[in-house]
Amino acid sequence: MLESRSASGQFEIGVPQLAEVAQALSARVEEGLAEDGHEIAALPTFISVGEGGAPVAGQSALVLDLGGTNLRAARVNVVGGGEMVVAAGPLELTLPIRRGVAFPLEQFLGLQARALEEVAEGQTHLPLGYCFSYPARSTAQGDATLIRWTKGVTIAGLEGRPVGRSLLDAMGEALARPERVAVVNDTVAALFASLSGPATDGHVGLIVGTGNNMATFFPAGRIGKLQASELGGSDLIPVNLESGNFSPPHLSPFDAQLDQLSENPGYQRFEKAVSGAYLGRLLALAHPEMEMDTERGAQLLVELAASGTRGVAGETANAILRRSARLVAASICGLLLCRFGTGCEFSARILAEGSLFWKAPGYKEEVERVLATLPSQLGLRCTVQVAASPNANIMGTALAALSARRH
Ligand code: BGC
Repeated sequence: MLESRSASGQFEIGVPQLAEVAQALSARVEEGLAEDGHEIAALPTFISVGEGGAPVAGQSALVLDLGGTNLRAARVNVVGGGEMVVAAGPLELTLPIRRGVAFPLEQFLGLQARALEEVAEGQTHLPLGYCFSYPARSTAQGDATLIRWTKGVTIAGLEGRPVGRSLLDAMGEALARPERVAVVNDTVAALFASLSGPATDGHVGLIVGTGNNMATFFPAGRIGKLQASELGGSDLIPVNLESGNFSPPHLSPFDAQLDQLSENPGYQRFEKAVSGAYLGRLLALAHPEMEMDTERGAQLLVELAASGTRGVAGETANAILRRSARLVAASICGLLLCRFGTGCEFSARILAEGSLFWKAPGYKEEVERVLATLPSQLGLRCTVQVAASPNANIMGTALAALSARRH
């Protein structure tokens, strides 16, 4: 058993270590852009937004948003000036999925189809934007094929299949059956939502909630693994990094133990160190003497950290949350280092989504503190701003549904 008395110290991470985390991430992103099969998958999405295909007043789209086990459905209308508004929903459902227990595919597709019927309110042949928060390989037609489940969720029989087409097939002749579907990762939806903000050189879509991941735009020429047939008109390609699968240096023995006990050992090592689905389990491993409901995730840590009466476990909860924020900041810096290098000055906006990022007290501030100093340690010359956008996932996904395919 690992020693629990100095548990909080195991989660401390200094600036030199954070710089190494950032540099390692940058190198792994580079590998992922060059070839398939690397730790950071760097998955290009073949949907262009804002290029001749920009939405116009009068258009509507259906949106599905599958996060952890939460499903949201909405209908979005485009009004004057291209502004988008939620016209129906968001309807929210919690799927009755238990961690590590496979959920039946038919029931999963049926629940989504019914949610779409409800928000379509009788409208037919609308395009569907599907925000699918799991690693999936985009197809040129705008669909995406599930690579594997993460965050303890498993739905039987969907791996290796196109998630959009599977839903359309299951909807048969249903009135609300969409005419086409665009599947985007939640980080890509956040990235698209960032485009409606003030001009900046770089955009990053960041999720820190149940899971963790980032997306950014890369010039097509940087993505060595793209086939000539995939090089469409636009130069900047949205890339879903799947950075949660990064194995960073400087993790603790508790992280290794958590990984070994998890449903997917060896995968999602970064996500397991930073995201809400795992932080409760990490705390429980550091304090085996205490009884706790680990399924409450980050909320458990937030309460313990705030209580001030729980002594050493409260301190560890604090240290785990703080390390999470510091690692997230390092991952942002690593991505910017890979994207822009040290040779030019640039500005970047990080459109962040996720309850851990926005709701854990002091979390965002810790990320910003590291973002104020770490870039210069890495030789980056940049200003980085963290931003929120209301309903970012829904709006970014609607934009994807209403925008042009690259092909
Ligand atoms: C998934 C990503 C997703 C992230 C945040 C991870 O577990 O692999 O696709 O973006 O969670 O939801």
